[in-house]
Amino acid sequence: MDPSAEAAAGLEGADPGSQRDRVVTEDEWLQKWETGNTGFHKKQGHPLLQKHLDVLLNGRSGLRIFFPLCGKAVEMKWLADMGHSVVGVEVSEQALRDFFAEHSLPYCEETVPEIPGAKMLQSTCGSISLYCCSIYDLSSSIVGKFDGVWDRGALVAVNPCDRKRYVSLMITLMEKNSSYLLVTVLYDPNKHKGPPFYVPEAEIKSLFGDHCEIQHLQKVDDFSDRHRQWGLDYFLEVLYLLKFVP
Ligand SMILES: C[S@@+](CC[C@H](N)C(=O)[O-])C[C@H]1O[C@@H](n2cnc3c(N)ncnc32)[C@H](O)[C@@H]1O
Repeated sequence: MDPSAEAAAGLEGADPGSQRDRVVTEDEWLQKWETGNTGFHKKQGHPLLQKHLDVLLNGRSGLRIFFPLCGKAVEMKWLADMGHSVVGVEVSEQALRDFFAEHSLPYCEETVPEIPGAKMLQSTCGSISLYCCSIYDLSSSIVGKFDGVWDRGALVAVNPCDRKRYVSLMITLMEKNSSYLLVTVLYDPNKHKGPPFYVPEAEIKSLFGDHCEIQHLQKVDDFSDRHRQWGLDYFLEVLYLLKFVP
């Protein structure tokens, strides 16, 4: 179904209640990386970031950009190559090592004194710093605050029961005047248990609405064979711009 037909059919208001209690453990995520079950990774990077980069950067240079639940997102390399400083967090060490290897980027690693068991892998030139730990271990005293966020496959990968905790943390990591690009997904949540989880616009408003202006930028059809195999007959991505006003 194309996006306009979906909207016309009113499916955006589908009941996500069937997913409310679903929990994916960190071990399950690690296993996905170990077995190569990583169909979420976009080798060519995300067209919506390419298209809407201007609203993220807003004419500014030398920004600090955060990639929550970063996987091995190639967009981290794009932004670092533009002169920005990139920070990511990811539970899978394999994902982070793959990222540096696939881009032939030399890196070093160090422990993170504030987080037992965590590591930070940093490109030798210093522009990409990737924390290997749970996002819930981070705080602004450890990673600082950010001018921009690319949240794709992140909020929608967070377990529904942890969404408020995730958003509360993200809000503490944002600078005033920062821009947060958020990609959510829409599909019939009765046909797929997630992740990615279905997050309707009303929930975005209730999660972020007290802290920032929310602008709906674009809705695109992202339906593929992968989604057909999940039993779906439509799959949309929705891009929002969240502006953290002073
Ligand atoms: C759907 S993938 C998306 C990866 C990336 N954002 C992208 O666009 O390709 C979600 C990622 O979050 C990681 N993850 C899951 N829970 C996490 C947590 N609590 N802290 C940090 N990373 C986590 C998983 O290992 C997985 O790589």
